Amino acid sequence: MSRSKHHLKTILAALVLACITHTPAHAETHPDTSKMPWMNKALSPDERADLVLKELTLDEKISMVHGAGWGVLRKGAPVDPHSNFAAGYMPGIERLGIPGIDLADSAVGLRMAAYQSRYATLLPSTLGAASSWNPDAAFLYGSVIGRELRAWGSNMSIGGGVDIMREPRNGRNFEYAGEDPVLAGTMTGNLMKGVKSEHILSDIKHYAMNDQETGRNVVNTQLDKKAMRESDLLAFQIALDIADPSAVMCSYNLVNGDWACENDYLLNQVLKKDFKFKGWVVSDWAATHSTVKAALAGLDQEMPGDDNHFGAPLKKAVEDGQVPQARVDDMVHRILRSMFDAGVIDNPPVRTVVDPFRGLEDAQHIAEESIVLLKNQNNLLPLKSSTPSIALIGGHADVGILSGGGSAQVDSPGGDAVDHKPGGAVWGKPVYFPSSPLKYISAKAPKANIQFNSGEDLAAAAQLAKNSSVAIVFVTQWMSEGHDSPTLSLPHNQDALVEAVAAANPNTIVVLETGGPVSMPWADRVKGIVETWYPGIGGAQALANILFGDVNPSGKLPVTFAKTEADLPHPIVPGLDRAGKVVSDDRHQEVGAFDLPYSEGAKVGYKWFDAMNKQPLFPFGYGLSYTTFAYSGLTVDNAKRTVHFTVRNTGKQEGTEIAQVYAALPTAANENFKRLVAWQRVKLAPGESKDVTLPLNQLYLSVFDTDKNAWQLLPGDYKVTAGTSSRDLPLHATLQVQ
Ligand code: BGC
Repeated sequence: MSRSKHHLKTILAALVLACITHTPAHAETHPDTSKMPWMNKALSPDERADLVLKELTLDEKISMVHGAGWGVLRKGAPVDPHSNFAAGYMPGIERLGIPGIDLADSAVGLRMAAYQSRYATLLPSTLGAASSWNPDAAFLYGSVIGRELRAWGSNMSIGGGVDIMREPRNGRNFEYAGEDPVLAGTMTGNLMKGVKSEHILSDIKHYAMNDQETGRNVVNTQLDKKAMRESDLLAFQIALDIADPSAVMCSYNLVNGDWACENDYLLNQVLKKDFKFKGWVVSDWAATHSTVKAALAGLDQEMPGDDNHFGAPLKKAVEDGQVPQARVDDMVHRILRSMFDAGVIDNPPVRTVVDPFRGLEDAQHIAEESIVLLKNQNNLLPLKSSTPSIALIGGHADVGILSGGGSAQVDSPGGDAVDHKPGGAVWGKPVYFPSSPLKYISAKAPKANIQFNSGEDLAAAAQLAKNSSVAIVFVTQWMSEGHDSPTLSLPHNQDALVEAVAAANPNTIVVLETGGPVSMPWADRVKGIVETWYPGIGGAQALANILFGDVNPSGKLPVTFAKTEADLPHPIVPGLDRAGKVVSDDRHQEVGAFDLPYSEGAKVGYKWFDAMNKQPLFPFGYGLSYTTFAYSGLTVDNAKRTVHFTVRNTGKQEGTEIAQVYAALPTAANENFKRLVAWQRVKLAPGESKDVTLPLNQLYLSVFDTDKNAWQLLPGDYKVTAGTSSRDLPLHATLQVQ
């Protein structure tokens, strides 16, 4: 060998060695796939899973049905070097080419970005996105999450919250999609479809009836099967039908006496048998309470794994014959088939730099469809760019917008916009993102005198308001996993702030950044009310576009806003009365175990308000536009089971109306409320009319017959109504079912 050749060889050898010794934990290893028949893409996910299963030892199977521990979530806990620093990690089977699974929290964007100096787009809250009533927006939402997970190198999203809003004070409402099972299921299903479109494993949670944080680890929610199937479980059923997600996360609470993660009725009977769910059931973090009972009830994977009911104890239970080998095979089959189905094996994530610009654009677009205009007296909005002076008051509107907390917390770029500190978000503390309303409002009215006041000193705030042509008060309600709001009231004396500003300036507009519904004792004394939810990283831009009319608001409430707690099915948050006081920032609101009978049954949200004949502050489905719409000509086709009507834009500018259809069932159903059964977003130029034809989905009209364990469409007359909100339905017709 020539000297130069030898030299080259030495360099190459050194390079190879350097590569080997510097191989990062995530670098791919490439086993010989030609000897792996399960890599044949022509086979079905089930066939491929079975081929892998045949090769696995019991130990390998057991290693797949529990996580690798608390990892990054618990200080001092070991972090698996192969993991991608997500909430959970299931190690892969390298010799068979099966990658590990990084279960990444990503309810409203990816969590734990700061941990590795990464960027993640904060999307509007999912409750906000549900206000768009737009399945395409939900799909886009999920695709942003999927896209960014791919770029991070993670392969599973554990977002997808679809618990319907039974408790308006629930700390996690911002992670869910509202009070109606059809709307929530449709939006969450499409969101998960978006995640899947990026070849990322998807999940919906928290199954089931995990509707409040107070006592979430001890509460036993009680509801009869009929009501359960027609409300909470219906939302899951619809989302599952749409998305066919990879996993379902069972929740912390008990349901009718059994922990949700060892609940045979919920997991085996309903989810796997009736809903035909083919994916796997993953436990919420430390929500597994047993080995044999949980395994037999249908739990497939324990997370995070340290508590280890599904580690050595499960192996022993199999060896002792308490859990059949076939059950463990089924657990593993479900995980593997979902991996093949989602494409994480054929199309694994590729590490890339997240595109923050595209994320911002998508987040802003969703926010613009999510913001709900609740009041606009004398058409004060949209504001004119020639408005001489504007006071911006409160809510840290000079620097940013609020985000929701807990495991849905996204790390803010540059740190908390209000309180810059190194490191990631801290559990239990509000985080503001640098989308500054002051900046984007100023850009809309460059000649206006725009001043900001923090709102801490009511007199100073009122003084500024008095000296301005328009006053915009920003009020915030920070919510998080781990605790509920004790009341519907805005915290920190903000009601008094609004009153003081409104008394000083007749042109007061309130902008809400809230996790869910709040009471507004001042509603009559302000001219404008705009609900932005948690509007995400493009929130201030979206808000400014709406306030100045560059975007015509189209969002409608996916939840009822009650006037007071007294009007709710549970005037006091159940369990809080027992706790005696609110232990804010406490992860679990520990109180003694208690039963929570859902005496309201399937009457959640507007159904309760209708049945009890109560007047809400703002009804479900409500939201204003800068234009107006007229409805006419409702007809029903009994044979095709469709409804037909016309919507016309009667105002002076283009706008989008969310036209809604409700149905009240025949008297035999014994329901004293109506159900949302269809809707459509209709975009109309001024003066334009459009005919809308919508199918009436049989499921949404049916009742659940517990004796037959089946849905039943009752014969009789269905009162069909259509209009602009659940309380403004000018059109009436009758659907006859033989
Ligand atoms: C939450 C889940 C979350 C998990 C992992 C739990 O406390 O309830 O929604 O996915 O933690 O962070």
